[in-house]
Formats: sequence, structure tokens, C-alpha cells
Amino acid sequence: MSDFAAWSRALQARMESALERAIPTHVAPERLHEAMRYVCLGGGKRIRPMLVFATAEAIDGNLTCAEAAACAVELIHVYSLTHDDLPCMDNDDLRRGKPTCHVAYDEATALLVGDALQALAFQQLARKGLHEEATAQIEMLHLLAHASGSRGMAGGQATDLSSTGHQLDLAELEFMHIHKTGALIRAATLLGGLCGKPLTATQHSALERYSHCVGLAFQVMDDCLDAEADTATLGKTAGKDAACGKATYLTLMPTAEARAYAHTLIDEACAAVSIFDDRAKHLIDIARFVVTRAY
Ligand code: IPE
Ligand code: IPE
Ligand code: MG
Ligand code: MG
Ligand code: MG
Repeated sequence: MSDFAAWSRALQARMESALERAIPTHVAPERLHEAMRYVCLGGGKRIRPMLVFATAEAIDGNLTCAEAAACAVELIHVYSLTHDDLPCMDNDDLRRGKPTCHVAYDEATALLVGDALQALAFQQLARKGLHEEATAQIEMLHLLAHASGSRGMAGGQATDLSSTGHQLDLAELEFMHIHKTGALIRAATLLGGLCGKPLTATQHSALERYSHCVGLAFQVMDDCLDAEADTATLGKTAGKDAACGKATYLTLMPTAEARAYAHTLIDEACAAVSIFDDRAKHLIDIARFVVTRAY
């Protein structure tokens, strides 16, 4: 097993148990808590948590703080997936290889699961004494709030919905992807960067560049995989974007060109974090994984 495979597997196990502890169980309302566990546990690549830990490693940060930040960003991500799948949005019935939340439970529960996961995310970051510097902890809360809201993920999702059935140009597509997907990937990376001593301006701009490129490449690959991979591999219904008239990179260029563009972005991301030398190892592995993944 490669070092990255072993590292990511250990991290996935660590996240599974951290999320398991974070979500209440056997307390009222039991059905809501059960649905929250249903969407959060036992699936997902956990790329955003990996980014938090890899950045924290690159700056010699505190990994207990990284674990809370990783839970927070993953909880926001899972909430966004639960809402993204609702009939009023993408209307999907398969996610992470199992029926979506509103299919397994019902629409109102899926809505509330998202609401509750979002609150739980901020509860993780607000934990007393999480960071020895209170100002750094407030910065973490602010970063995740901004990334989740109308200037981040939720705004990107609104753009996605209003763009359906329309042809976007390259700049408009980039705006949409950077918000709906890039914002949480950027937040994950920068949250890891806040788990230690204050970053230098050079370190901060390296992480900004890296996460911008990885975030955009991630959604470009998501568009390619939707068109090229099969449902069993993806764990979500393949071919939905074209069927629903979604604005994606493939409405502007052939898949091979979109993939080549994603690779160029990843080369740029890897170059940006070379200032961390060997400590950027996992950041580079994650970036490469983003464009070589099968699902
Ligand atoms: C899917 O994200 C939704 C997008 C933002 C493109 P992931 O591909 O990271 O989904 P999981 O977490 O592995 O299920
Ligand atoms: C989803 O983008 C982005 C968010 C959930 C914020 P997509 O709609 O392309 O994600 P998938 O393909 O359903 O995972
Ligand atoms: Mg969507
Ligand atoms: Mg979707
Ligand atoms: Mg997609």
C-alpha cells in the first residue's frame, strides 16, 4: 500500500469515529439523529478532512484542532449534499451508494438534517479552548461561515440552479464552480492553516493558490466523471448533468480538454505548495488524487 493510501485510510477511520462521537444517538428526536448518522457515516471520500489534516501537517499545527475543523467542514459538506439531492434541487435518489436522505426518510427530514448538520458544524469549531489563541478560533468560525453562505457554497448552489438550461461562458462557469465547490475546499485548506501559529503572508498566499486550483479542478473532474463514469462506481446517478441541462465544463469543451485543464490546475496547485518542502507531501498527493480518482 502506498504511503498516501495508508495515510488516507487511517484518516478516514479517524473521521468516522470523530463524526460518530459528534452526532447524538439514542436521544430525542431519535429519527432526526438517525438520519444525520445515515448521511454522515460509512461513506464519502473525506477529501475536505484530508485537506485540513494535510495543511495542519504542513505547518506543524495541532492535530486535535485539525480534527474538530475537519469534522466541521465535512458536516457542512454533507449538509450541502443532502440539500443538493432534494427534489427542489438536483432531485437525486442515490448518494454514496445508498438511497438519498429524502428517499430513505422524507423531504422534511432531509431539510432538517441539513439544518442540524450546519449547526453542529459550528458547534465543533466553537468548542471552548479548541485553539490556544481565541482570535485564531474566531477566524476559523468566520472562515467557515463565509465559505458556507451566500458568498460561498450556498451562493454557488443558487448560481447552479439559475444557470440550469443556460449556456455559461468560461468566466461564469468558473465563478459557479469556485463558489459551489471551491469555497469549502478553500475553507478546509485554510482551516488547517489556522491550527497552529499565525501563517506568514507567503504561506497564506501559497495555500490560497493551492486551494483555488484544487477547488476548481475538483468540480471540473466531477463534471467529467458525471459524463464518463458509471453509477455503480460513482455511488450517485451518472449522466444526470446532461439529462438535466446543467451548466458544466463539458458544455464548453470536450471531456479530454476538460481533464487536461484540471491537470494544469493541479500542476499549479502543487507548484504553489512547494514552499513547504517535504511537509507538503500529502497536499500534493491529495491534489494528484483529485484528478486521477475514479469516483
Ligand atoms: C461531491 O463531493 C459534491 C461536489 C462538491 C462535487 P465529493 O465527491 O467530495 O463527495 P463525497 O464526500 O466523496 O461523497
Ligand atoms: C454539488 O455539485 C455541490 C454541492 C453540493 C455544494 P453537484 O450537484 O455537481 O454534486 P453531485 O454531482 O450531485 O455530487
Ligand atoms: Mg447540484
Ligand atoms: Mg447534484
Ligand atoms: Mg456533479
